[in-house]
Amino acid sequence: MASSNPIDKILLRVLSLSLAPLVGGCGIDTSVFEPIPCASEGRTPYLAGAEPVAPADYMELRMIASPSGATTPSALESVGEKCSGAADRPACEEEIAAATSTKGFRLGDCVDYCPDHILIINTGDEVTVLDTPDAVRAWFGPVDAPADAVLAASLAGYTVRCSKPDEGGVRPDGDAYEVLATRYTATCAPIERTLYVLGVDAGGDVHELETEVIESESGACVGRRPAGLLRAAGRGATPVGAYFANVARLEAASVWAFDVLGRELVHHGAPRPLVERARAAGRDEVRHARVMRRLAARYGGRWQPPRVEPRPVPSLEELAIDNATEGCVRETYGALVGMWQGRFARDPLVRRVMTRVARDEARHAKLSWAIDVWVRPRLSAAERRRVDEARREALSALEEEARREVDPALVVHAGMPGREAARRLSRNFAEAIVAGAAGVGA
Ligand SMILES: [Fe+2]
Ligand SMILES: [Fe+2]
Repeated sequence: MASSNPIDKILLRVLSLSLAPLVGGCGIDTSVFEPIPCASEGRTPYLAGAEPVAPADYMELRMIASPSGATTPSALESVGEKCSGAADRPACEEEIAAATSTKGFRLGDCVDYCPDHILIINTGDEVTVLDTPDAVRAWFGPVDAPADAVLAASLAGYTVRCSKPDEGGVRPDGDAYEVLATRYTATCAPIERTLYVLGVDAGGDVHELETEVIESESGACVGRRPAGLLRAAGRGATPVGAYFANVARLEAASVWAFDVLGRELVHHGAPRPLVERARAAGRDEVRHARVMRRLAARYGGRWQPPRVEPRPVPSLEELAIDNATEGCVRETYGALVGMWQGRFARDPLVRRVMTRVARDEARHAKLSWAIDVWVRPRLSAAERRRVDEARREALSALEEEARREVDPALVVHAGMPGREAARRLSRNFAEAIVAGAAGVGA
């Protein structure tokens, strides 16, 4: 699902960049397709250029209802002149105005707003209502024009975007057509949109020739680590159990981290909403620690509570550096890894848990960037340079860590990115953060 928040955009972009080599080979070459110019109001044209079996004086595509019944019937597209060949024009026009149906057909992909449509055909005095996909297919007959192919793909539930050459287009392929289209392939945990090359044969049959995931959002992950956290390895009967035991310990440490951060923000006079967001994040981390303990137990892990050595209240520069490294880098990357796990873990429970946790971690990442925006103007130029340097070092450290070998059991069961995937994720992440660091504090 699209988001206007820069952090969400960065995470989605990095995820799809890192996924592309896995799921799409070299990717779909969209440049070979002819883009589709939009009709009025940015809509994909369905009737203009269609070649029906029998010509008509007038054709109108009308949206009649959504399942909630809330839609007002409206003409989306029309071709020809209404009742131009009618002997009794007023009666003909009245009949067209009143045309409706209790059935209807869908055009394109549909997630949450799914209006039904009818096609009204007028020849002479005759007014015909087509209200099923089969009736429409019979009307346009053999697929012998690009518009026919677009209509066939849309009736099959694919969205063919107009004026968006990367997501919608058509081209002839012998006596058939290829259509570039998209559809949502998952609408919850993760939300995923896939690009297709569809083959549409002369008989109107639609089949998928190539696919590529172009957008995926789930939610990430290990949270913010407090300064003074003492190292301790998770233990367990299996590597996966030990891994989740360690994650549970780190999530519990994040509760501490946000408690401390809230108090430090108050000490330095931060605006109240930032303090409130830090407290809310701490409550999220309590929940994360609980679910990770359960996952640890499921895989035979033994959880140990974190031990943190208290530290004195940091200077504003120390707070900014801690925020830049633990928040803007580590927690943001944690959100990304969690999105990955929410998608690739074999265990459906792990996928569900990681997806939810990732969503929270992405919110915590946004808080870090908001703190960054608040704190920077309060620092001297030299202090700001040191914060930037610390952030760069944290990004390099992440890339270094990503080169390590990952236990195959963690890749399979916990959905951890393997070495090659982690290398891509961390590199794309570092590039995106460096490129976007100036504008992500919203
Ligand atoms: Fe967390
Ligand atoms: Fe977090």
